Amino acid sequence: MLDKKLENAFNDQINKELYSEYLYLAMKAKFAEMNLPGFVNWLDVQVQEERAHAMGMFDYVFERNAQVRLEAIDKPEVKGSTPLEIFEQILEHEEYVTSRINALMDVAEEVKDRAALSFLDWYLKEQVEEESNVGGVLANLKLIGDDKKALFMLDKELATRTFVAPVIG
Ligand code: FEO
Repeated sequence: MLDKKLENAFNDQINKELYSEYLYLAMKAKFAEMNLPGFVNWLDVQVQEERAHAMGMFDYVFERNAQVRLEAIDKPEVKGSTPLEIFEQILEHEEYVTSRINALMDVAEEVKDRAALSFLDWYLKEQVEEESNVGGVLANLKLIGDDKKALFMLDKELATRTFVAPVIG
């Protein structure tokens, strides 16, 4: 059983993870329009990761004999039109998600739910990894500038990313 306030906070985060999936799906479509299959693949892995993050919490809420309530998912808005601009938005978004995981942990702390805190530790570590991955691609894109050949090479590199289903918690 979960404290009602914590149950609501988990449901809110499930919605944010599903929104992340939706946002990255929209970005994947943008990269497909740009004919960059490696970037499309990178986003595709990201889409699957976000679904896994949402489902990890979805299953956990049930495991704690609490209720999952799905709300509407906001329309995703891709702000930029270049790979650099899109990756700037991805980093900004991941930093936001990190702040939301921290806020969720604040609620778990407030209601003294140590089991939930321990479960959420995985998400905190995952956010460090996510920000680092995205930051790495962003740094490459900044170096590349307008060099089309270098962008082509980076696209080849991003094509090698594969999805590995995470073991959450
Ligand atoms: Fe689920 Fe990318 O954070």
